[in-house]
Amino acid sequence: MSDLAAAWTKLETAAQGARERPIASLFATEPDRLARLTLEAPELFLDLSKQPWSSADLDVALDLVRASGLEAARARLFAGEVVNPSEDRAALHTALRAATGAAFAAKGEPVSAEIDATRAAIAALAGAVRSGAKRGATGKAFRAIVHIGIGGSDFGPRLVWEALRPVAPQIELRFAANVDPADIAQALAGLDPAETLVVVVSKTFTTQETITNAQAARGWLRAALGQAGDAHLLAVSAAPAVAQAFGVPADQIFGFRDWVGGRYSVWSAVGLSCAIALGADVFEAFLAGGLAMDDHFLTAPLDRNAPVLLALAHVFNRNGLGRPIRAVVPYAQRLRLLPNFLQQLEMESNGKQTDSHGRPVARATAAAVFGDAGTNVQHAFFQLMHQGTDIIPVDILAVAHETEGERASQAKLLANAIAQAEALMVGKSEAVVRAELAGQPQARIDELAPQKTFHGNRPSSFILLDRLTPRALGALIALYEHKTFVEGVLWGINSFDQWGVELGKTLAVAILSELEGGAPGVHDPSTTSLVTRLKV
Ligand code: F6P
Repeated sequence: MSDLAAAWTKLETAAQGARERPIASLFATEPDRLARLTLEAPELFLDLSKQPWSSADLDVALDLVRASGLEAARARLFAGEVVNPSEDRAALHTALRAATGAAFAAKGEPVSAEIDATRAAIAALAGAVRSGAKRGATGKAFRAIVHIGIGGSDFGPRLVWEALRPVAPQIELRFAANVDPADIAQALAGLDPAETLVVVVSKTFTTQETITNAQAARGWLRAALGQAGDAHLLAVSAAPAVAQAFGVPADQIFGFRDWVGGRYSVWSAVGLSCAIALGADVFEAFLAGGLAMDDHFLTAPLDRNAPVLLALAHVFNRNGLGRPIRAVVPYAQRLRLLPNFLQQLEMESNGKQTDSHGRPVARATAAAVFGDAGTNVQHAFFQLMHQGTDIIPVDILAVAHETEGERASQAKLLANAIAQAEALMVGKSEAVVRAELAGQPQARIDELAPQKTFHGNRPSSFILLDRLTPRALGALIALYEHKTFVEGVLWGINSFDQWGVELGKTLAVAILSELEGGAPGVHDPSTTSLVTRLKV
């Protein structure tokens, strides 16, 4: 048996001891539990003490990390080596947030000078638009941006905007992703084309949804401004020639390279709309937060390394205890899109059934992720979290200080975040419930007591930001990126490709032609009947 296989077996064996053991009991038996399982990382505090592992289990998990070769894999990632072998690519999103003048190379080719130049161009454009130096075709200043993109060309910028947008923004930023015509219609509704920039973001510039929405927006601009409307188009793409052929002026196309994965691209020119709408200084602070987390990931010892420990907590639940779902609940309305962002980051990166050599994986990979903002979710799926038949580990996020609004409301929000984590772990025993019901008829107590009992022992990780600053947001996103990377290394998979999204795309193209009157294809009876029913 290899060292890695042995380390996995040890972890899986150790986890069996955690299955029935009350998490709360570990605080009594392990006096240093809080010290060992809480840590300060850049811009955030992490508490993993409500996870089911004991101190000895954590040692076993750290042995697994060592056996997996994580440190060498991490070095390869930052060195720009090919970590995405199925596409023969580096994954160098970390270079995008490095300090100016860094010396990153992708597959040996220096990239930092180009990154610095793009960042300077973004800052220059953002400054010009915000100051009014750059105006629209009719001379009006820009007051709105419509950002068109999907997947990695959408989730990150949308999250950043929602998290950091001013209460009364100088420039309104809207998003359209879905090919559902309602999406672009709503994004454009009420805007003045003479005051609107349209930023089309697509790494490939071939994505059906994005090109369809971009055509609609281009038509909207041209209808109002004539051909001059094209001057309101900006593009962000790794295929600049295709963007130019679409009608985007050459000097309004911002590039990024194929070594930036879509779901890791918010740090690149993909963040252009945010840089304009929030200001280049805000975007730079966001990048600096990502860089701070990179430095932590690279230098902190494994047992004090936030991405490593967060990944291990997940792996302990996923592989050790067979838990296929996890929840993410930010107690911060401004972070309500974090679960959507993580769905792509974690599930597109690590939802794989083969390793990077094409062999079936030896064990389960990414869990399904879901979530939304607390406290709203307490009135939705938290019933199941507390008393459902499945145990669903949850990341609970909170921000100590409010961005706007009343301190008293913020205190209530924080109280709920802390209370839920406590309730999930500690529960409420049947004995306590029975004592509370004392005085009622015995039959009624017997009926009600089990229904009102909380068995507890439901794990959570707690992530606390001091304030939701651009820097903190950058650190938070980078934390999850590196967590995802660590998990991919442990599972032996390529976290940077996404072959699983291709089949549906191909079939949709064929079915579209059938819906539009083309020759019928060969399908199963159910598919044929739907095509027939929906033919235009
Ligand atoms: O969902 C599949 C995917 O390829 C993602 O990986 C990517 O983020 C998204 O489509 C959009 O791709 P593009 O930026 O090329 O339009």
